[in-house]
Formats: sequence, C-alpha cells, structure tokens
Amino acid sequence: MKPQNVLITGGSTGIGFELAKLFAADGHSLIIAALDDAYLKEAAIELEMRYDIEVTTWGMDLSQPNAGKLLYEKAKAAFGQIDILVNNAGFATYGYFESTNQERDLAMIRLNVETFYQLAHLCLQDMLARDEGRILNVASTAGMVPSPMFSTYAATKAFDLSLSKAIIHELRERKSKVKLSVLCPPATRSNFQQKAGMNKVSLFNTPLAMDADDVALAAYKGLQKGQTVIIPGWVSKICMPLLQRFFPDRLSLWIVSKMLS
Ligand SMILES: NC(=O)c1ccc[n+]([C@@H]2O[C@H](COP(=O)([O-])OP(=O)(O)OC[C@H]3O[C@@H](n4cnc5c(N)ncnc54)[C@H](OP(=O)(O)O)[C@@H]3O)[C@@H](O)[C@H]2O)c1
Repeated sequence: MKPQNVLITGGSTGIGFELAKLFAADGHSLIIAALDDAYLKEAAIELEMRYDIEVTTWGMDLSQPNAGKLLYEKAKAAFGQIDILVNNAGFATYGYFESTNQERDLAMIRLNVETFYQLAHLCLQDMLARDEGRILNVASTAGMVPSPMFSTYAATKAFDLSLSKAIIHELRERKSKVKLSVLCPPATRSNFQQKAGMNKVSLFNTPLAMDADDVALAAYKGLQKGQTVIIPGWVSKICMPLLQRFFPDRLSLWIVSKMLS
C-alpha cells in the first residue's frame, strides 16, 4: 500500500495506539486524536522516534456534540484528504442500567454513536467521490449480544456493528473501490477496563481476553486483506456467532452476565 493519510481516533493508547504503530511502521502519515494531551504527546514522541514519521496530534473531547465534524474539518485542512479513517475512540460504562452515571452514559453515546457516525458519514462521502479509501470501524463483540451490566455500552456497539455491516453491503452492491471493515475486539487488556470501573471483572484475566497489540495486528491484516468483519482470536470467532445465532436469548444473556460479573 502506498503511503496514505491516516486519521485515527483514540490513537493514543490501547488498540488505537497499537494500530498507529503498525501504520507508522509502513510509513503512513498519521493524525491521532484523543482526549488526554499527555497520553497523546507520549504516543507521538514514541511513534516519531521509532518510525521516523511525522505525527499530528489533536487533544479534543470527541464526546462533545458535532466533534466528529470538527475533527473531520481539521484533518482535511491539515491533510487535504483522509485516505484511511480508523474510527476507534470509545469508552464504556459498567453496572446495573439505572446505577450508572447518566452524564457519562450520554457522553459515551455521543462518542460511540454520534461522533462515530459523523466521521464515517463525512469521510465516506469524500471517499466515494474519489472511489478510493478505507474505513476501519471499531465495534465490539459486545455489540453482537445484549450484555447485562454493560447494557448501554453494548447497545452503542450494536449500533456501530449494524451500521457498518449495512454500509459494507451498500458498497459491495455498488462495486465500490471504497472498503469498510468492522473490528469486533473481544475483551482486550488496555486502559478501557480501568476507565469503565471493571477492574474486578475476571474476564479480562482469562485466556478469553487478548492484548491490544494482538487485536491491532489482526485488525491491520484484516484491513489489508479487505476482510469485512474482523473478529480477533479463535475463541471469540467461534463462540460469539454461536451465542448470537444459535443460543436462546435467555441462555446467551445468562452466559454473558456471568462473563461480565
Ligand atoms: N478493551 C476492550 O475490552 C474492548 C473490547 C471491544 C471493543 N473495544 C473498543 O475498542 C476501542 C478502543 O478501546 P481500547 O481498549 O483501546 O481502550 P483505551 O486504551 O481506553 O483507548 C481508548 C481511546 O479512545 C480515546 N477516547 C476516549 N474517550 C474520548 C473522548 N471523550 N474524546 C477523545 N478521545 C477519547 C482515549 O483517549 P484518552 O485516553 O485521552 O481518553 C484512547 O485514546 C473503543 O472503541 C472500545 O469500545 C474495547
């Protein structure tokens, strides 16, 4: 792949940062946007020193209304065009539905749904006009089944997954050269669980959980192969479609609630 302009949301830590390293290693130009300036600066220094590329960073709260449009406009002004969008920034809230902080839930919905939608919508319009470009949308295996204790987060990821699959079909039907892949990571060790207050959730310490670099590598390879739905890890690849399609709802809800307690 020739060097491309890559916009990565949430590229400062976890899966997004591991993806940034892979793009950097292949000589692509990067813009990474995230909330915390300190993490961003650290990430940019590491990328620039290790891979000898230039990295543009923007610290901005992508859970604000219209943040997706603002980021898109800034990225276009800086890059001219966005060749690859990695729509990755996200966080979760955890607990019984009525017990979570409503403001935090609404910020999560704006980030995981509104900003996610807005960036994909705006970038796709440009990419279709050029008939080239790639989008990697980061959903979750949590988007495949309703998830007790993770109810609102899983619902946002169900939106991300459903939207992505429909767009993939629309692109395929029109034989577009623009490609969209959707990544469904399983439980992944990153800052995610601590931010969601899930430190005691044992799932992250079981063999079902993966490291962020392995998830990113599976995503990167999948993106290059034009894979549409990328589910890293053989356990999730087998178990999640089973839970989703063949198990009765009450059984899959029970299994997921045990995994998330
Ligand atoms: N870890 C898992 O178990 C798991 C499983 C399935 C899917 N996912 C999804 O994978 C994606 C990446 O998560 P991760 O595991 O890599 O978690 P992470 O290490 O916490 O990374 C999340 C990234 O999103 C950014 N972000 C969060 N809130 C933001 C905001 N309001 N404005 C701008 N940037 C914001 C973070 O920046 P700051 O650090 O500056 O806030 C960070 O760069 C998310 O969409 C998540 O839902 C994660």
